[in-house]
Amino acid sequence: WAVLLLVHLLLLYFVVTRRSRSKNDPPLDKGLIPWLGHALEFGQDAAKFLSRMKRKHGDIFTVRAAGRYVTVLLDPHSYDPVIHNQDSLDFHRYAQVLMERIFLLQLPNYQPDKEKAVMKQHFLGKNLSALNSTVSKHMHNLLKTEMPQNQKDWKEDGLFNLSYSLLFKVGYLTLFAGEQSSDSSHLAVVYEEFKKFDGLLTKLARGTLKSADEKKTAQSVRQRLWRLLAPAALTGGLGSTPWLDGYRQVLKEEGADDEMQARALLLQLWATQGNVGPAAFWLLGYLLTNPEALAAVKTEMEALRLPPLDSSVSTPVLDSALDETLRLTAAPFITREVLQDTPLHMADGQQFVLRKGDRLCLFPLISPQMDPEIYQEPQKYKFNRFLNEDGSVKKDFYKGGKRLKYYNMPWGAGLNGCMGKEVAITTLKQFTYMILTQYDLELCNPRAQIPAVDVSRYGYGMVQPEGDLLVRYKPKK
Ligand code: HEM
Repeated sequence: WAVLLLVHLLLLYFVVTRRSRSKNDPPLDKGLIPWLGHALEFGQDAAKFLSRMKRKHGDIFTVRAAGRYVTVLLDPHSYDPVIHNQDSLDFHRYAQVLMERIFLLQLPNYQPDKEKAVMKQHFLGKNLSALNSTVSKHMHNLLKTEMPQNQKDWKEDGLFNLSYSLLFKVGYLTLFAGEQSSDSSHLAVVYEEFKKFDGLLTKLARGTLKSADEKKTAQSVRQRLWRLLAPAALTGGLGSTPWLDGYRQVLKEEGADDEMQARALLLQLWATQGNVGPAAFWLLGYLLTNPEALAAVKTEMEALRLPPLDSSVSTPVLDSALDETLRLTAAPFITREVLQDTPLHMADGQQFVLRKGDRLCLFPLISPQMDPEIYQEPQKYKFNRFLNEDGSVKKDFYKGGKRLKYYNMPWGAGLNGCMGKEVAITTLKQFTYMILTQYDLELCNPRAQIPAVDVSRYGYGMVQPEGDLLVRYKPKK
């Protein structure tokens, strides 16, 4: 029996590890564990794992992870053909896998193009300035209630908590709940539940929730959020917004019942609100821990007129400080499913074929964003990295002597890049402006450093800190 079992196990091993590299394939690294391959190391700290693979194999390689083969491309000069090849490299299939895994969302008649059209209508073009004004109004009102002007003494808080809670509420009011719902206890409940959900997000995405307790928490927090976002809860007196009405209409056309609509809204709550708060934390955190940067930003702000700080207001110093923040802390994977064998011509002349059924993954954090060939001392925060000596915006960055089209990619790229980029930038600038001009804000410990990154979040948009940065604030006299 033992021998038979061993033979079966060996056969199984050969079946599941059968794939070998053919001449058109990128270097193949299956890892030692059958089926699982590199999944654990990949999930624990993607930046560390992929940097190790890059040192071993170069700018392109295929790794096995949990039964899937993922080709990772890390040469920004070669990103363009991949980002624009929508026929063979599909964005939506993997997005649907995550929709189901994280949000338990299945749309009977999913129509991504229609969904996109609604986002475009409300987040870009002529409606953008109305959206920016709504953001500005909610931010102003929330600052008044959450950080009141009559507060006399210093108040302490974690900067991450302060930034995330305030901007989440601003975004939730702007896109989901509308005017009627600025009831602060409702806002606090939605935020608290969302934070719990956000804490489990990467485990949900990877299917690595461990204990029964964790699984139960994930399910109950999702259910509470679905209830809070259910059509009846939002329209029944709590309010709505133009974007939400448009999006709901598409959901109905997609055949989503009330339950699925609530699940879809949780997905949108995460897509639209999961990144801005963390980005504001890193921006203010880097400014507070770099006095020269803070002074330069404040000097620029003194000359500004009143908000909203949309793209018509020139703020090159703040823009550069923000771009530098995002360079260090925006870490999305750009993932595509390979629908058919697809030739890939690398900028350096190498040619490969991407295999049908594999997944392709770009990880711009490693290159361009943290690439020492492009940025000197890439780990260091330099607020003026995106400024020329004459104070104009710097857009020319080079790798291998060739100018880069993609030198910073916090928003992804191409047709599936971030639809909310403009409103996100205005929100971040506005928030920084209001906090720095209306409040005295300082580190509780003047020698405190920016916290380390929670490395398990690489791949899912903005990273978050391990712990928080303690600050104190009071309204300016
Ligand atoms: C700092 C803040 C933000 C960052 C760093 C960010 C980043 C990104 C990235 C990298 C993607 C592409 C994802 C992919 O390729 O899989 C994306 C997609 C998207 N973002 Fe953002 N985002 C931010 C804020 C926002 C905001 C405020 C909104 C809405 C108001 C928004 C709406 C969207 C939408 C709708 C998509 C999906 C586009 C599609 O399906 O093709 N984002 N975002």
